[in-house]
Amino acid sequence: MPIPKISAVGACVPPGILSNKDLEGMVETSDQWIVERTGIRQRHIAEKGVASSDLATEAVKELIAKSEIKATDIDLIIVATITPDMQLPATACLVQNNVGATKAWGFDMSIACSGFLYALQVGAQFVRTGAHQNVVVIGVDVMSSIIDYTDRQTCIIFGDGGGAALIQPCAAGEEFGVIDFVHEVDGSGGVSLCLPAGGSRNPTTHETIDKRMHYVHQDGPAVFKFATRKMAEMCTRVLERNGLTGKDVDLFIPHQANLRIITSAMERLGMTMDRVVVNIDEYGNTTAGTIPLAMHSALEKGMLKKGDLVLLASMGAGFSAGATLLRWAY
Ligand code: UT7
Repeated sequence: MPIPKISAVGACVPPGILSNKDLEGMVETSDQWIVERTGIRQRHIAEKGVASSDLATEAVKELIAKSEIKATDIDLIIVATITPDMQLPATACLVQNNVGATKAWGFDMSIACSGFLYALQVGAQFVRTGAHQNVVVIGVDVMSSIIDYTDRQTCIIFGDGGGAALIQPCAAGEEFGVIDFVHEVDGSGGVSLCLPAGGSRNPTTHETIDKRMHYVHQDGPAVFKFATRKMAEMCTRVLERNGLTGKDVDLFIPHQANLRIITSAMERLGMTMDRVVVNIDEYGNTTAGTIPLAMHSALEKGMLKKGDLVLLASMGAGFSAGATLLRWAY
């Protein structure tokens, strides 16, 4: 069975920037507090009318330009997002049409911050079985469309953006690509990070809007506690069962939710700062977008080379968590 590998990455963030200084004028906060407690200095925010499919389309166009495939070679498009353009059709259909992927099918996945990793594994299975040769996996979110900019606990964290990865089979004898993964959900944590209205439980009404139930509600400390414990735990599990430790990892690409969550995981895994990708200062937490955006940053900075052992990790709403181990293929 062919090993699925990532063979190209594209990304897109909107040009608009919301700085910590800007937020000081919107809620009771300070640049110093945000930097110290989260590591975030700014986030990119989409203009009114710009949706997840727009960012995803740009990311896929870049990916195609950087690969040897044409849009018409794409077999499958999976979009991980909690901010689809609309409830239906699926954002994957909009992207398929925008890029001219006339032979592709596709669908969306909703598992918040773990979205990209879960979509990566789903896409990888289609390649591993030989069913598909070119799978495009996208993680993207326009979080500004569901954030309450009067809630200082959530609005300081999130930003807009995303990225896309092309998954292809390794050639015979090629030893790169996905090695292993661990995924886990714990639905008992659902209430700690949720968007209460707009679904079948609480369809949108004037009342749900008056109660601001159409925005993300977060119990920050509860999510923080889960994330710090789980990031290290999931990484250790996937490393140990492959006879590896944190010291063997060439590059750690974690979900960017809070710099303190990342540094805590690194300390527990015995990793040093030069082997982790951090771009939270520039982009904030783009939910499903963080890992492909971080991969893109790593490639731009020359931090990734063929054969590197790469560890990806995510955790967030659900609660959901995951870690993927792979050997970089280009
Ligand atoms: O992508 C996955 C989803 N999300 C996450 O992973 C987020 C995880 N959680 C976090 O990153 C952190 O919990 C936050 C950044 C959201 C909050 O930081 P914290 O250190 O956990 O703060 P806290 O909620 O425990 O609040 C500490 C203090 C409180 O004041 P008092 O009660 O001690 O006087 C808060 O009212 O900080 C206050 N505070 C703020 N102060 C200035 C909370 N938010 C802010 C703010 N600016 N934006």
